[in-house]
Amino acid sequence: MTKGIILLGLPGAGKGTQAKKLVEQFSFSHISTGDMLRSAIKNGTELGLRAKSVMDAGELVPDDVVVGIVKERLNDPDCAKGFILDGFPRTIPQAVALDAVAGEMIQFVLLLDVDQEEVKERLGGRRTCGSCGAMYHVKFAPPNVAGKCDKCGLDIIQRDDDKEETIQKRLDNYNELTEPLLEYYGASGKVRRVMAAGNIDEIYRNIVEILK
Ligand code: AP5
Ligand code: MG
Ligand code: ZN
Repeated sequence: MTKGIILLGLPGAGKGTQAKKLVEQFSFSHISTGDMLRSAIKNGTELGLRAKSVMDAGELVPDDVVVGIVKERLNDPDCAKGFILDGFPRTIPQAVALDAVAGEMIQFVLLLDVDQEEVKERLGGRRTCGSCGAMYHVKFAPPNVAGKCDKCGLDIIQRDDDKEETIQKRLDNYNELTEPLLEYYGASGKVRRVMAAGNIDEIYRNIVEILK
């Protein structure tokens, strides 16, 4: 099976949703820089303190900071079985840094393709379990009991950066800084485009087809 996968796509395209399904079925490690940064904030580490205001504003954390945490994570033994990068790289300098340490491990760059209006609705209704990280949507993927996580019963919450004006900033940053990665990876022949609108399980099946 595939070794390294990069998930690309607008904020709200479903990178986290699909990555979680893939790691449940296959022996991939899920490397989400957003989750790692949010966990640093929760734990009050120095990294978390630095990242909080940047993330709440919908801006990108500096390249050297995220490159540092990803390089460290890729050294963990579990990543040797295969890994999914979710939310990294997000800029050309990050992609260059990744190529230098793990370029030959990357087999696919999967673009989750969905339009801007759709992701705005997704992000506005997203809720996440503060404890186990399970993901919900008030309309598209509601929990069994409103406000409570199906898996652990604890409260589900809205992310601080899922407010309307912050969402727009994140979309603008994607278009300006992250979308150019498609051209960057274009010549490698590794880019695969997956329609990411519609049923979550159907999108997942299409992804698995590609990875086979
Ligand atoms: P990060 O956490 O990576 O956020 P993001 O890229 O903005 O993406 P999201 O997590 O919002 O969306 P997603 O694609 O995972 O969608 P999801 O599956 O949740 O980054 C956060 C911040 O951290 C950044 O703004 C930046 O500050 C910093 N950061 C992180 N990485 C960085 C880096 N490399 N460099 C610099 N800074 C970095 O789905 C969204 C919602 O839609 C959910 O509610 C879900 O249930 C629902 N949904 C999913 N699929 C479907 C579907 N098919 N139909 C209907 N609803 C769906
Ligand atoms: Mg995510
Ligand atoms: Zn939970």
